[in-house]
Amino acid sequence: MKVRVLNGPNLGRLGTREPEVYGASTYADLVALCESTGRDLGLDVTVRQTDAEHELLGWLHAAADEGAAVVLNPAAWSHYSYAVRDACAMLRGPLIEVHISNIHTREEFRHHSVVSAVATGVICGLGLDGYRLALHHLAAGHGAR
Ligand code: DQA
Repeated sequence: MKVRVLNGPNLGRLGTREPEVYGASTYADLVALCESTGRDLGLDVTVRQTDAEHELLGWLHAAADEGAAVVLNPAAWSHYSYAVRDACAMLRGPLIEVHISNIHTREEFRHHSVVSAVATGVICGLGLDGYRLALHHLAAGHGAR
C-alpha cells in the first residue's frame, strides 16, 4: 500500500520551532519515525515537507492519480486553504489529517480546519505519535474512503 506523508509550511523547522508547543523532536526524527513504522508495517511510505503551496498541490494530485493513501499535516494551510481542501477532495484513497498540537486548545483561528470535512479521520494533540497511529490505522485496513 502506497502512503504519502505530506507536511505543510514550517514543519521542516520542528525541533527549533516553538518546542513548548511542538516538542523537541526534529523533522528528521519525524521522517525516521514514519519510514521505520512503514517498514515494520510493510507500507510503501514517502515523507515530504514543503513551504510552497503549489508543491503540496502537485503531490496531492499525484497521490490522487496513483490512488495512494495520504497522511497530511496541512499546518497553517489547514485553516484557510480552499485549494488544499479541493485537492484533498480529489483523493481516491483514505486521507488522515494529523496535527502535532491540539488545535482546539489553541488560538481561535486554529479551531477550524477546512480540510477536515474531506478527511477520512483526524488525529490531533498526540505529538509525532499521531503519524505513527495514522500509519497503523491504514495498515490495518481501516482507511476505506
Ligand atoms: C499544526 C497546527 C497548525 O495550527 C499550525 O499552523 C502548524 C502545525 C500542528 O501540527 O499542530 O503549523 O498543523
